[in-house]
Parts: sequence; structure tokens; C-alpha cells
Amino acid sequence: MIDGYGLARSALFRIGGGDAEAAHEWTLRRLAAVSRNRVALAALRARYGVTAPRRVFGVEFPNPVGLAAGMDKNGVALPAWPALGFGFVEVGTVTAHAQPGNPRPRLFRLRDSEAVINRMGFNNAGAAALAARLAALGPLASGRTPVPLGISLGKSKITPLDEAVDDYLASYKALSGHGDYFAVNVSSPNTPGLRSLQDRDQLDAILSALVGEKPILVKIAPDLTEPAIAEVLEVCLARGAAGVIATNTTLGRDGLAAADAPRAAEAGGLSGRPLTERARSVVSFVHRQTGGALPVIGVGGLLDPDDAARMFDAGAALVQLYTGFIYRGPALVRAIARQCRAAPSR
Ligand SMILES: Cc1cc2nc3c(=O)[nH]c(=O)nc-3n(C[C@H](O)[C@H](O)[C@H](O)COP(=O)(O)O)c2cc1C
Repeated sequence: MIDGYGLARSALFRIGGGDAEAAHEWTLRRLAAVSRNRVALAALRARYGVTAPRRVFGVEFPNPVGLAAGMDKNGVALPAWPALGFGFVEVGTVTAHAQPGNPRPRLFRLRDSEAVINRMGFNNAGAAALAARLAALGPLASGRTPVPLGISLGKSKITPLDEAVDDYLASYKALSGHGDYFAVNVSSPNTPGLRSLQDRDQLDAILSALVGEKPILVKIAPDLTEPAIAEVLEVCLARGAAGVIATNTTLGRDGLAAADAPRAAEAGGLSGRPLTERARSVVSFVHRQTGGALPVIGVGGLLDPDDAARMFDAGAALVQLYTGFIYRGPALVRAIARQCRAAPSR
């Protein structure tokens, strides 16, 4: 275990009788309080801040380690994330209509596998509420250094698939003034039919509606075949997408420890260690297939600095963490960013 996070983790994992979402909510409440406390923010920044600047799709990043979508869907603790060392933050996934998501329990830790299964279902307060929060907050920064904000957009559950374009566009219009980049999430396994929006015609329609003013990235599933990924990339290149985020959670259940077998039966997307290799191979495929023309944000199963190093070697320009942050805490963010500072090609 890196740093003193082991003790905090044991306590966190006991919250709510071991209910993972209760621990998540508790953490967000604490970080929201920290976000309002300048002294606490400065103390965290002194401990975890690392500068390893990168310029990707025209945006300056103070370091290339980002918070993945889904951790702070409504942006309730935004100032805390840069203080914990993140060089960019992706909020959302947000939808045009506020929605409750799936019934609880819907988030499960598979501890021996260093994995998580979730079927949250885009629980979020909606694009208008996020826009209001971001307007009140102003630009994100770590001290005086600007920190890019990504906004992940999804389709509302009540919106039929054939009206998806208007739904994404409504969220984008509400939020376009607030994000440094936008992620088109067409890869969550927890909204029925959403992943079919990765098909050529559907994706083409969404991108032609959104591409223009701000960098638009497409987040893809790890379960796509290489020909299907190649098709996504063709559309991205033809429509002027700024990059690809690879990958979302998987519907696969390979690579789990025997002790986690009962939980493996839970429906939802799997993240963490079982995803490491697959996410990296998708990043590598995207990089090769486009000759590096489309910047890639590599995400999936990054649990130690070596995982991140291999992700950069596979062609990622930036990386993001979710499950690794749950299991290893902010010291992991710092360790990866320090490694990037020491080896600027990573
Ligand atoms: C509880 C949970 C909620 C998530 N919610 C979202 C989301 O709203 N939008 C999204 O694009 N990805 C979401 N993800 C996927 C992560 O952003 C990331 O792509 C995936 O978990 C793989 O990275 P990891 O192995 O570091 O967790 C979620 C993941 C988890 C574990």
C-alpha cells in the first residue's frame, strides 16, 4: 500500500456496513467540505501537487493524470480533485434530464480482484444543474494554475435512441461555456441501447451535431471488436473529433479472483485490475490505426505507476483513474505524475 492510505481505506470500506456507494457518498461529502476550505486545499496541494505539463488537442494540462468520469458526476467537490494531484477532471456523465439511476445496491467492490462492478445508470442532477454549479464555481485551478475540465455527456434514459442526437445537443448547449473538452459517452453498459450509438451512422450524427467550438472526444467500450473500433475511428477522423477515451467498463468477467465469484454475477460494468490489459490493447490499437493522429486518453485498470507507464507506451497522451483511486488513494496520482515529470515522453 502506497502512503498511509491503507488505514483510511480500511475505515472507508467499512462505512455503511461495507456498502460501496455509502463510502463513495461519504467521501464526496468530505471532499465537498474540503473544497470550501482554502487552508485544507493548500495543504493537500502541497502534499500531492505535481507539475508535469502536457499540451494535448490544443489544451494545456498541468500534468497528464486525470480523474475519470463517474466519480464526481455532479461536480460537487471540484476544487478538491486538483488539490489531490489530478491534472484534469472529467465530470458527469451528465444527461439532459435529471434522473435517479438504477435501484440500489448498484456499486460493488471485488476486493481480491482490485475491481469494481457498477450499474449506476447515469444517476445525475441533469445538465442545467451542473451548468449552474459550474457558473457559480468559475474556472477550475490548482493555486493559480488552470486545470482543464472535461464534461462527459450521455443520453437520458427517457429519451428514445432515435432522438439521442437532440439529447446530447441539449446537454452540450447548456454546458458548452464551461468545459475545456467534452466526452461523448456512447459506451456505458448501464443505459439500455446506449452502446449501439457507437455504430457508424449514429455516431456520425452525434458528432456532426457537436463538433465545432470545443474539443469533442468519444469514449469507447473495451468490448468492441477491432473492426468496430476501426469504424469508430473513421467517423472520429472524418467528423473532426479531438480524440478518443479508451476505455469504459467491460461486460466481461475474466480475471477475477475466486473469492469474488459470487459478486461477479452482479449485472453491470467491471473496472479495475481485470481491465488493465484489455484497455491498454484498445489504446494501442487506436494509436496504431490512426498513426497517432487522434490523441487518446487511456483509462482502465491503472493501479500502479507501471500500469500507467505501459499505457503511455501504448500511445496514450493522457491517462485517467477511477478504480485505482479507490484502492490506492491520492498517492497513486502523485506517483504517476512524478513518473511523468521524470520521463516527459510518458
Ligand atoms: C462507479 C463507477 C461509475 C462510473 N460512471 C461513469 C460515467 O458516468 N461515465 C463514464 O464515461 N464512465 C464512467 N465510469 C467508467 C470510468 O470512467 C472508467 O472508464 C472505468 O471505470 C475504467 O477505469 P478504472 O479501471 O480506472 O476504473 C464509471 C466507473 C465506475 C467504477
